[in-house]
Amino acid sequence: MTKYIIRGGAKLRGSVNISGAKNAAVAILPASLLVSGTCRVDNVPDISDVNTLLEILASMGAKVRRLSRTEIEIDATHVRSCTPPEELVGRIRASYYLIGALLGRFGTAEVAMPGGCNFSFRPIDQHIKGFTALGAQVEQSAGAVKADCPDGLRGAHIYLDVVSVGATMNIMIAATLAAGTTVIENCAKEPHIVDLANFLNSMGAKISGAGTDVIRVRGVNRLYGGSYTIIPDQIEAGTYLAAAVATGGDVTVQNVIPKHLDCITAKLREMGASVTEYDDAVRVCAPEKLRHTNIKTMPYPGFPTDMQPQVVTCLACAQGESFVTEGVYDTRFGYLTQLARMGADVRQDGKSAVINGVERLHGCTIKAPDLRAGAALVIAGLAADGVTEVENIQCIERGYESLVDKLRALGGDICRVETPDDTVASAG
Ligand code: EPU
Repeated sequence: MTKYIIRGGAKLRGSVNISGAKNAAVAILPASLLVSGTCRVDNVPDISDVNTLLEILASMGAKVRRLSRTEIEIDATHVRSCTPPEELVGRIRASYYLIGALLGRFGTAEVAMPGGCNFSFRPIDQHIKGFTALGAQVEQSAGAVKADCPDGLRGAHIYLDVVSVGATMNIMIAATLAAGTTVIENCAKEPHIVDLANFLNSMGAKISGAGTDVIRVRGVNRLYGGSYTIIPDQIEAGTYLAAAVATGGDVTVQNVIPKHLDCITAKLREMGASVTEYDDAVRVCAPEKLRHTNIKTMPYPGFPTDMQPQVVTCLACAQGESFVTEGVYDTRFGYLTQLARMGADVRQDGKSAVINGVERLHGCTIKAPDLRAGAALVIAGLAADGVTEVENIQCIERGYESLVDKLRALGGDICRVETPDDTVASAG
């Protein structure tokens, strides 16, 4: 068993360097399968989801070299396998990008169903709708997705029925080497979508409109090697800002794109925090007492669903009643029962969490249910009186690089403890 032990009460203070964006990296690395040549990708976060993807690429015949902790070199020129190993694929959500990449490069893919955080039902029908429109025959069984297009994909006009990050990126990847032009309408606009388009364009793709509702992909014959640096992680930065606010602290997140954090800092301001923006840093200083507010999660530039559990945790000790409504997933409130065990007055009412701020939370032993809820429970532990033990931390380490070291550098009293009977759990 590996767990975090947190002694709460310290106000977080200081500066923290933000790593590369997880949800950009987990799309860009599979997309490197489209490239005939060597890709150098920098600012890759050192997290278990990325390491699993690198293992998958290597097992398929790509040459993967780590040039430094953050820089990876991938040469997928000689990849021939279109069936990545099921066990590795099942560990992470982002393995669905392997379908788009393999279909785009080889016209065939057989990929086990993705794993990852299971906080809600997470269909991939829009990905399949896109691949089908591009000319592929797709069969989805309980265990795998099999897609074939022996004569190669052809550009098409695709309207997404829901705004989906994964479907937007996967269709973009598949269409990059397709014959003709693909138009994707009702796209997601998250910063990592623009980052993936920039990566592909820097390797020779012709993609325009990323970051707007309509993306156009003019198919090219091949992609060449090149170098690319991934953007900073909006959600990691937001998580440290939330931790600062919850503990009554004063934290500067460095190496960020402040514009990407507007949707988060707007809400922290409403809660009474003071926010200062610099060129590539944002400082948040907590007020004496946080104020209640209402939040609805939305696709970008709305408030991100991946920050929902962290802000609910901040509001658990704010004055008054807050409502936080989930507008992206059917449900993402399973963690409220754990927060309630720490003394929070929280309940789920349909698609909303109703939070009545309490004076203090108290430490206890809790289990991280998934990546973001796990991070939220760490924040709760840092803000609570007494000792909190967080179990099932593998799911947190899927997406946060050096979480313990970064929090300790800010003055948080947290350590990672491994007991001898540790068993390696696959990421949640
Ligand atoms: N949806 C469909 N059909 C689809 C795809 C999505 O109905 O084919 C629905 C989903 O059920 C959901 C909504 O559309 O209600 C949005 O889902 P989206 O496809 O945008 O999510 P995703 O691609 O599965 C990515 C991130 C998530 C993040 C969401 C939303 C990755 C690997 N995952 O998931 O990140 O919550 O976008 O921003 O990029 C996390 O980092 O903790 C995480 C869960």
